[in-house]
Amino acid sequence: MISFKELGLVNSRDLFAKAVKGGYAIPAFNFNNMEQMQAIISACVETKSPVILQVSSGARKYANQTLLRYMAQGAVEYAKELGANIPIVLHLDHGDTFELCKSCIEMGFSSVMIDGSHLSFDENIRLTREVVEFAHKYDVTVEGELGVLAGVEDDVSAQSHTYTQPGEVEEFVKRTGVDSLAISIGTSHGAFKFKPGQKPEIRLDILHEIEKRIPGFPIVLHGSSSVPQDIVAQINHYGGKLKDSIGIPEDQLRKAAASAVCKINIDSDGRLAMTGAIRKVFVEKPEEFDPRKYLGPARDALKELYKHKVVNVLGSDNKM
Ligand code: G3H
Ligand code: 13P
Ligand code: ZN
Repeated sequence: MISFKELGLVNSRDLFAKAVKGGYAIPAFNFNNMEQMQAIISACVETKSPVILQVSSGARKYANQTLLRYMAQGAVEYAKELGANIPIVLHLDHGDTFELCKSCIEMGFSSVMIDGSHLSFDENIRLTREVVEFAHKYDVTVEGELGVLAGVEDDVSAQSHTYTQPGEVEEFVKRTGVDSLAISIGTSHGAFKFKPGQKPEIRLDILHEIEKRIPGFPIVLHGSSSVPQDIVAQINHYGGKLKDSIGIPEDQLRKAAASAVCKINIDSDGRLAMTGAIRKVFVEKPEEFDPRKYLGPARDALKELYKHKVVNVLGSDNKM
């Protein structure tokens, strides 16, 4: 058993309390490799933002769980070396079993999500409660979820969404003891959220209804990529074949961040930014074959994207 505290990581409790009060949200960026981790940390150091490094079960399979843990530990030292000891949370994204959450807690994660959103209300409560009881023994914070987000990625998928029912949140939070709650109010996973012409809408009315039932309780938004149209155009310009799609407008996310939403998950926009930068190098410099020559620009593009999100969408700059 390794405590996250030995690794220099923090859990999400104080960060969320401050974010709810301050009207901003902590960025939760997914990572699978070194360049993503470097971009996340350098962007957050430069903007002096706390950050949640998120690892999905797909990321664990891809990159190896032990390596990712050591990278997060390295991230703490890297941030200091870059000049700011920003608070860093290592979080399991979309944990689906008690065993997976337990294993992450035992290897130094400071926060886990148990996603029982596809289960019945009572089953979701039972599973979430089980994880909370274990996690809290080690001061690890737990995110639960009520309501189902649409969208498809490697390890997360649902055909259509079901909005969170405000009438259920109070009982869920009380009976599970969770530290934060992910809700479904119109966001969805992946890069293909809405077709052009559709009107994406975060249901702020449902959010406010939920806030009334659990005042000040930390709320999480998944599926919050905005699918930047200039990046989609760049990818397709350099030979990509992405279908037209739009994401969640950033001004809507900013409004949500000003309320009790204190964690916003962004993964797909980073995937797009990396892909656009790599495609550009491949087309403009087809003679290059040193991975640093295309992963370097990809890392730069990611860093710019993350800084933009922190400053203009989440409002978490200068909140370390
Ligand atoms: O919400 C899911 C995250 O974007 C992680 O995606 O399961 O493909 O790693 P993944
Ligand atoms: P996006 O696919 O919109 O980036 O959402 C990521 C997410 O919710 C990770 O849990
Ligand atoms: Zn998610």
